[in-house]
Amino acid sequence: MDLKIYKNKQEVAEQFSSYFVDKLRDKDTFHVALSGGSTPKIVFDVLAEKFAGKVDWSKVHFYWGDERCVPPTDNESNYKMTVDHLFSKIEVPKKNINRILGEKDPVNEAMRYANLLEIDLDRIEGIPQFDLVILGMGDDGHTASIFPHEIELWDSEDHCVVATHPESGQKRVSINGKVINTAKEVAFLVTGASKAEKVEAVVEKIEGSEAYPASLVNPSSGNLVWFLDEEAAAKLNQNPS
Ligand code: 6PG
Repeated sequence: MDLKIYKNKQEVAEQFSSYFVDKLRDKDTFHVALSGGSTPKIVFDVLAEKFAGKVDWSKVHFYWGDERCVPPTDNESNYKMTVDHLFSKIEVPKKNINRILGEKDPVNEAMRYANLLEIDLDRIEGIPQFDLVILGMGDDGHTASIFPHEIELWDSEDHCVVATHPESGQKRVSINGKVINTAKEVAFLVTGASKAEKVEAVVEKIEGSEAYPASLVNPSSGNLVWFLDEEAAAKLNQNPS
């Protein structure tokens, strides 16, 4: 587990963006699962501002680790957030953007998306393999859209599952734990003081942390990197508060 700790959210976004662009350099194609959330939003701004003309975006194939079951025009949509902050500002072929169809029936869309991943991506023992899965972590320890109250979805045999937000009841489509842990690399983007307690629990494997889906992220490749700001890392041993 590689912990990269930076001063603030903006620096996390800048450092991750450079890290991401460096990964693309020697690749002909790159399949990435994006996350929603506030930190990825700033990453997309940085990619658009600093790297729009410096990357051959035609080799990047964009997918989502999770999506809210809302229309693509809804402000809740992770796809819409990515269009507003990135896709509207870079030259990327439409065919490279593989959104989860939030406007469709969740169960049918989870099946469709799972099939899409199985067709588009290399498979390891039948499980679609991303080059990179980008994840956030909720204050409750959820990741992608696997929430603590339905943590059993993590081990679903279905590569995409239908989840329910614990407060709003909003339906979500999410990739499962097997797809996440089959990725060549997983990058957590976690910032803000509200995350510090769960970051400590998950990173230091404190008793009880197994109840948090984020604690189950353990790619078999061994390539797990955390991009944290000092606030989110404040309770970690090597960063005495
Ligand atoms: C989503 C994300 C979700 C997010 C966390 C953290 O669809 O909302 O996929 O898992 O990463 O909720 O969000 P913040 O980074 O905004 O705290």
